[in-house]
Amino acid sequence: MSTPAAQHTPDGAVAARARGLTKAYGSGETAVIALDSVDVDIARGRFTAVMGPSGSGKSTLMHCLAGLDTVSAGQVWLGGTEITGLRDRELTRLRRDRVGFMFQSFNLIPTLTAAENITLPMDIAGRRPDERWLKQVIDTLGLRDRLRHRPAQLSGGQQQRVACARALASRPELIFADEPTGNLDSRAGREVLGFLRGAVDDLGQTVVMVTHDPGAAAHSDVVLFLADGHIEDAMERPTAEAVLEHMHLSTGGHPQTPWFDAVRGRLGDDDTDLEE
Ligand SMILES: Nc1ncnc2c1ncn2[C@@H]1O[C@H](COP(=O)(O)OP(=O)(O)O)[C@@H](O)[C@H]1O
Ligand SMILES: [Mg+2]
Repeated sequence: MSTPAAQHTPDGAVAARARGLTKAYGSGETAVIALDSVDVDIARGRFTAVMGPSGSGKSTLMHCLAGLDTVSAGQVWLGGTEITGLRDRELTRLRRDRVGFMFQSFNLIPTLTAAENITLPMDIAGRRPDERWLKQVIDTLGLRDRLRHRPAQLSGGQQQRVACARALASRPELIFADEPTGNLDSRAGREVLGFLRGAVDDLGQTVVMVTHDPGAAAHSDVVLFLADGHIEDAMERPTAEAVLEHMHLSTGGHPQTPWFDAVRGRLGDDDTDLEE
């Protein structure tokens, strides 16, 4: 097993860091250890994918790194700031200023236009968007002629691009995306992945994305593989084939594992990116 190379980046190059990050839900006999003493560094200016079987702790890891959820033990830093131990108000402010989110369900407000959805978090925070940045984000995402549309008037891919623009609008240090292509057909999914890639390459953002899809993971710079609340491996410069092979190996040939279902789902998808 290789040591995640991202763990050796110098401090200034780390967008988020966890040490001994442990998260338990419930207590006593029924406690679930969702994360078990995870050490991880998320490199600044890179696109990190997080993969692993259902229930392996991917969402919990993102939520704890983003300060959306409290930890049971260990420490988390966003940039140079330790967020474990911050008071609620400080944490809320820090999260608002430094972090953007994208979810599988786009979470747009149906009664607002695309433009209003994009700036909503900043409007709530009483902050004026940097107009030049906002223009660049909207143009990069190809949303210029969709700004007056409401979510119902947009395709799934366009809605997720609006959610992406919303996440980028405040120019956060870090974007967390939890299965952002999970509800999209493969073409719209590829488009959103291209934009996330562009956010890293052209806008200098840091992206952390959970995905089940080897083809999606191949857009990233490094894949972290979770299993049972641990990071069990990392893969630099992933290809869909190499990720798929890793998934096959880690099932140990037990076809009932959730991993295997994800793999089989991909292979059964005739619109797949993979060349088998
Ligand atoms: N709010 C919660 N209450 C109780 N258990 C939870 C909660 N959230 C997650 N879990 C449990 O923690 C483990 C990790 O969950 P999660 O991080 O959602 O996994 P993944 O995103 O990889 O599917 C699972 O066993 C899940 O059932
Ligand atoms: Mg999840």
